[in-house]
Amino acid sequence: MVKTVLITGASSGIGAAAVRLFQSQGWNVAATMRSPDKAPELAQLERVICPRLDVNDPASIPAAIAQTLDQFGSIDVLVNNAGYALLGPFEATDPEQIRQQFNTNVFGLMEVTRAILPHFRDRKAGILINIASIGGQMTFPLYSSYHGTKWAVEGFSESLQYELEEFNIRVKIIEPGPIKTDFYGRSEDVAQKEGLTAYDDLVKKVVPNLKRAGATGSPPEVTARVIYKAATDGSSKLRYPAGGNAGLLLFARRFSLERGWRRGIRWVTMR
Ligand SMILES: NC(=O)c1ccc[n+]([C@@H]2O[C@H](COP(=O)([O-])OP(=O)(O)OC[C@H]3O[C@@H](n4cnc5c(N)ncnc54)[C@H](OP(=O)(O)O)[C@@H]3O)[C@@H](O)[C@H]2O)c1
Repeated sequence: MVKTVLITGASSGIGAAAVRLFQSQGWNVAATMRSPDKAPELAQLERVICPRLDVNDPASIPAAIAQTLDQFGSIDVLVNNAGYALLGPFEATDPEQIRQQFNTNVFGLMEVTRAILPHFRDRKAGILINIASIGGQMTFPLYSSYHGTKWAVEGFSESLQYELEEFNIRVKIIEPGPIKTDFYGRSEDVAQKEGLTAYDDLVKKVVPNLKRAGATGSPPEVTARVIYKAATDGSSKLRYPAGGNAGLLLFARRFSLERGWRRGIRWVTMR
């Protein structure tokens, strides 16, 4: 029986790489995206459809799920991948920017999850894969809102797995390190406030270091392979580090003393 995966934010980066990998392994793929005309090459692939799904447009979520069920009959795996980062000093952020950040990375992910659960419960099977980040377990300067969203995804996902295990629905948290994608370019939202110059020196020091981490990060295919493993390994493992030295960084974070760790982050990012 051919399995089906539905992936959000599939137009580029990690989502698009996951579409290609699942498809190459013989899966049916619903490569959902907010503008399906953005990645026409994916729609050309055998067993791939590209329903429109904007996680901030509540009506588009059940519609994309219904289109996938019409086409493929069932959904085995949901990959909540859509997301982006708001970068800059918190004081420079506009409340609307913060709302948008949480709407996309947290509330949107929750709504897609809520919409798929009746199907997973009916089938007494399903795998829910949430793309968090190493930034859901540690922080870097100037990403306070983004970290707020990814720490929220971590807590939400870890708690959720308790209530879903009796329905044979497994939850997986993917924790990528720096991955070379549009995340550090067109997807980024930058917080700037006219007349606010107090943070300029900090921004000048930190931003190039963050950009360098992105530019030298792992290719998105590395994370796609980890997502595929989480979908197929049959385990009840919850967390999966996924590229960009994520495993090493998470290990170091866990076994470091708080103050020493923060000194290290300062040294790496504020030089
Ligand atoms: N790259 C990294 O270093 C890194 C590290 C840790 C975690 N992550 C996480 O990995 C995930 C994928 O990011 P990426 O690195 O692959 O970056 P990316 O290439 O910029 O991909 C982000 C995707 O999210 C989509 N998206 C944004 N807002 C959306 C919305 N409202 N509804 C549906 N889709 C939306 C974008 O669609 P459009 O094409 O329409 O803009 C795009 O397809 C994100 O959750 C990100 O936080 C990335």
